[in-house]
Amino acid sequence: MSGATATAPQTVAREAMAHAYAPYSGFRVGAALVAADGTVFSGCNVENSAFPAGTCAERGALAAAVVAGHRTFTRIVIVTEAEVPTPPCGICRQALVEFAPSLDIVSITTSGAEAHWSLSDLLPHPFTPQSLHHL
Ligand code: THU
Repeated sequence: MSGATATAPQTVAREAMAHAYAPYSGFRVGAALVAADGTVFSGCNVENSAFPAGTCAERGALAAAVVAGHRTFTRIVIVTEAEVPTPPCGICRQALVEFAPSLDIVSITTSGAEAHWSLSDLLPHPFTPQSLHHL
């Protein structure tokens, strides 16, 4: 998924999840990444028969936002059909910390459970652009 919208991020993430391509895991994920100006970008997981080529919803939303010229973000909303809200995977945490070290993460399930984290709590001591300057 890609593109910006003014719709509420929870709704955007739910709609994105409906477009998830997850025939191998059956685990559909939708994400809505909110830029500093309030613009919302969506993403869904896109799996592949060559399994490692699959991508996560969060990084799909991040790519859509960056290609549209956005690099500062306040919040990401994640929607799944899991029993409990799920946090972003490690690779997505690393991808997001590049742009938003203290990103507000909201994870909701289709049955109504909700969890909140800060990216700084989920990924303490991150490798950042500044790390490259500490040779
Ligand atoms: N997945 C995401 O889209 N985001 C995450 O943070 C965790 C995992 C996807 C990847 C794969 O398509 C499926 O969920 C099962 O791991």
